[in-house]
Amino acid sequence: MRYPNITSGVEGFLHGGDYNPDQWEPALWDEDMELMKKARCNAATVGIFAWAKIEPEEGVFDFDCLDAVLDKLAANGIRAVLATPTAAPPAWLAEKHPETLRVKNDGRERSWCEGRVNYCPSSPVYAEKCAVVTRKLAERYREHPALAVWHVHNEYGGGCTCGLCREAFRRWLKRKYGDLDSLNRAYWTAFWSQTYQSWEQIHPFNGVLMGLQLDWKRFVSDQVLACFENEARILREVTPEVPVTTNSYGFFVDYDPRPWAEAMDVIAWDCYPQYHARPEMWKRAMATSFELDFARCLKGDRPFMLMETTPSSTNWMPVEKLKRPGTHRLFALQAVSHGADSVQYFQWRAGLGGAEKFHGAVVDHSGRSDRRVFGDVADLGTLLEKIAGVTGTPVRSDTAVIFDKQNRWAIEGARGPRSEKRDYDVTCRSFYSWFWRHGVSCDVVDADADISGYRLVFAPMLYMVRPGVAQRLEDFVRNGGTLVTTYWSGIADENDKCFYGGRPGPLKELLGIDSEELDVLYDDETVPVTVDSRSFPALNGTYSARIFCDLVNVTGGKAQEAPEVLGKYSGEFYAGRPALTVKRSGEGRAFYAAFRDGGDFAERLCACLAEDMNITPAAEAELPEGVTLRSRTDGETDYLFVLNFTGESRTVEFKTPPGVNLSDGSRPGNSVEIGPYGSEVFKVSHA
Ligand code: GAL
Repeated sequence: MRYPNITSGVEGFLHGGDYNPDQWEPALWDEDMELMKKARCNAATVGIFAWAKIEPEEGVFDFDCLDAVLDKLAANGIRAVLATPTAAPPAWLAEKHPETLRVKNDGRERSWCEGRVNYCPSSPVYAEKCAVVTRKLAERYREHPALAVWHVHNEYGGGCTCGLCREAFRRWLKRKYGDLDSLNRAYWTAFWSQTYQSWEQIHPFNGVLMGLQLDWKRFVSDQVLACFENEARILREVTPEVPVTTNSYGFFVDYDPRPWAEAMDVIAWDCYPQYHARPEMWKRAMATSFELDFARCLKGDRPFMLMETTPSSTNWMPVEKLKRPGTHRLFALQAVSHGADSVQYFQWRAGLGGAEKFHGAVVDHSGRSDRRVFGDVADLGTLLEKIAGVTGTPVRSDTAVIFDKQNRWAIEGARGPRSEKRDYDVTCRSFYSWFWRHGVSCDVVDADADISGYRLVFAPMLYMVRPGVAQRLEDFVRNGGTLVTTYWSGIADENDKCFYGGRPGPLKELLGIDSEELDVLYDDETVPVTVDSRSFPALNGTYSARIFCDLVNVTGGKAQEAPEVLGKYSGEFYAGRPALTVKRSGEGRAFYAAFRDGGDFAERLCACLAEDMNITPAAEAELPEGVTLRSRTDGETDYLFVLNFTGESRTVEFKTPPGVNLSDGSRPGNSVEIGPYGSEVFKVSHA
């Protein structure tokens, strides 16, 4: 099975960068075309932030530059990822319509001079102006042969707190709750007399109503998404066959990723990992992989676009070390191994002025192609052509970690019990790391995802249990899945209201436990946990609990088998109480780790379950530390990626030879040496 190409007319990868020809003399454009071909680039992202050029005055349009550049791209076989310019409103808009500017959380209006992303998402004027310029672009270039993908705006982020936004928020709340009584109940406003008597009293920054704060985040996410949809609707109407996307980064910054992902035809991701020669660089690589899996899984298993990375250094990291030889290709192949069907850069040519003049680019200020960075890009372009068959192939995983943005908001917003040690991301990654280190694919999905296709699911710190989530987890387990969850799960509903009946709320029956109290520890404290079980002897041993120790009673749930206690605390006043349990229901089982791992517990649990469930890696091999394997496959052809995130050569011992090396056509034996920061792709055909 293969997914279709990202866009029609492009077989293989899109490779290229953000291209701002409007900042340069037209005399340079032909040279750009030659250089792009030399760098084996077949795509250019054009028009981002070019609003002032395209519409220099309200209602006055100038497409001369874009016309010429798109024609040149087409003539040179380079496709355009064509952007709407709306992330950088021009001066005339702020001058004529100052109400289009954003208002910050402290109530101060943002100045137009702050550069970009300074618009109010609720402003009807901003929406109208965006619609006008978007329609102009769409209608002008609807038939243009260069047009490949629509890139709406650029990295949506943040929100606004102006009067319009607050009004819109109240309307949003009215739609959601219907009446004030329901809202007051949902937010538990009786405490401290926070009860609202009129909608007008609602202000987004009530610091004590966590439910309101969560809704504000959801509202901002929806409100900004409406800006995307305002443009996407027009693009789809005019060019229904051209995919529409917008680029995001981090874990979808401030927004709720699911509705955003649904609104896009293809996910576009920006990623700037700091792969510098530091000890244990692999941990950073592992965290990057986690993020890339998150990006891909936003749309099931569909390939995504790596819309931005830097071919060189950025200008915003605290230490701008150069990319060590090999690391550019290494990261690009890492992204591809996680499902990226494009490798694109910020930026093609480094500007001579402006805020990002020291940001790396394919072509630096020398304008020359005989530079190391340019060579790296050209070499990668050549390799991407050789591995073009990878595009469209899925990444398959038996395992997933639930990493849920709304849950993260709630965990981070809650007061107590160890506010500065919540570490939700780190905890989720602690169950991902073993799979990464052993070359086993593990997806990263949210709590609303369809998990029925997985065999093993980790749901660490599932604090917020939204309606439907517990049922999905129960079904998953009943149908044979293995679930692992932890302390600080099943605490509150979608409004951050705790579950009556205690913890873990709607997960009680599934886990067969009742959490009575939660102890927390100082940083330098640990509590021993002893696992001694016949069912999972590989787990037997002593572990260290730190920060969180949940004191649970096993209950068994309604007419169900009681959970088995696999491990107990062996210190503190709660010595002897369950620390690790497993409850079997239907065909599956649900583990509960009551403590935070202070050592190698998560690793050993993952190893034990992978062994027990025969969850296999991309290829059977002995992997040295810092080296991982990934694979993409259409079922007939496997593409095996070997990635070395260390500054030394490493040898991987495969059980069987890994296939044909697509870089040079060689067929190595079982033993494969991968150079410092090395990366290779092997092809194995089953047909
Ligand atoms: C991205 C942004 C680009 C550029 C880049 C610099 O977040 O979309 O326009 O600013 O960062 O690394």
